[in-house]
Amino acid sequence: MSALIRRADERDLMKILRIEKECFSDPWSINIFRGALSEPHARIFVLEDEEGIAGYTVTTVVLDEGSLDNLAVTAAKRGQGYGRSLLQNALEDAQNSGIKRFFLEVRESNEKALRLYEKAGFTRLGVRKAYYQDPVEDAVIMEFTC
Ligand SMILES: CC(C)(COP(=O)(O)OP(=O)(O)OC[C@H]1O[C@@H](n2cnc3c(N)ncnc32)[C@H](O)[C@@H]1OP(=O)(O)O)[C@@H](O)C(=O)NCCC(=O)NCCS
Repeated sequence: MSALIRRADERDLMKILRIEKECFSDPWSINIFRGALSEPHARIFVLEDEEGIAGYTVTTVVLDEGSLDNLAVTAAKRGQGYGRSLLQNALEDAQNSGIKRFFLEVRESNEKALRLYEKAGFTRLGVRKAYYQDPVEDAVIMEFTC
């Protein structure tokens, strides 16, 4: 199966939004994604296979710090390395921009994502109490040092 990762554009937003709604109980709105497309410090990447867009990342890079603001893979395409590839691509892109540290937040019950990030070399920095809504949950803050 061949998959490629590329920068997203306006035409990808409806597909991204469908995946977002499928994956999260408190999904981002289309305006948040639109903002990320036009914001110079933000980047959206999509992973596309022969059936179309299967997942995406949203990252922000400011000076020497980056953050992973969103990552999702559509349910039907999970467990085949797409999440890992998207994360790796986002990290490499941020490193090419000169970052020294890369941060993310994840729901503390999200074991799959926690494993993915730990395997990629992220470490736990702390907990942000009641950071998420729907349902209310603490966030684990993680850091990758370049
Ligand atoms: C988290 C997510 C992006 C993983 O995507 P994926 O394409 O299934 O992940 P991959 O196939 O690349 O797997 C990468 C690693 O994730 C972890 N992982 C994936 N599926 C897992 C599962 N069912 N159980 C435990 N760990 C799992 C493993 O560490 C895996 O590495 P391994 O195969 O070497 O063990 C995907 O489950 C998803 O979109 N979930 C909903 C949205 C979400 O939670 N996003 C993260 C917000 S912080």
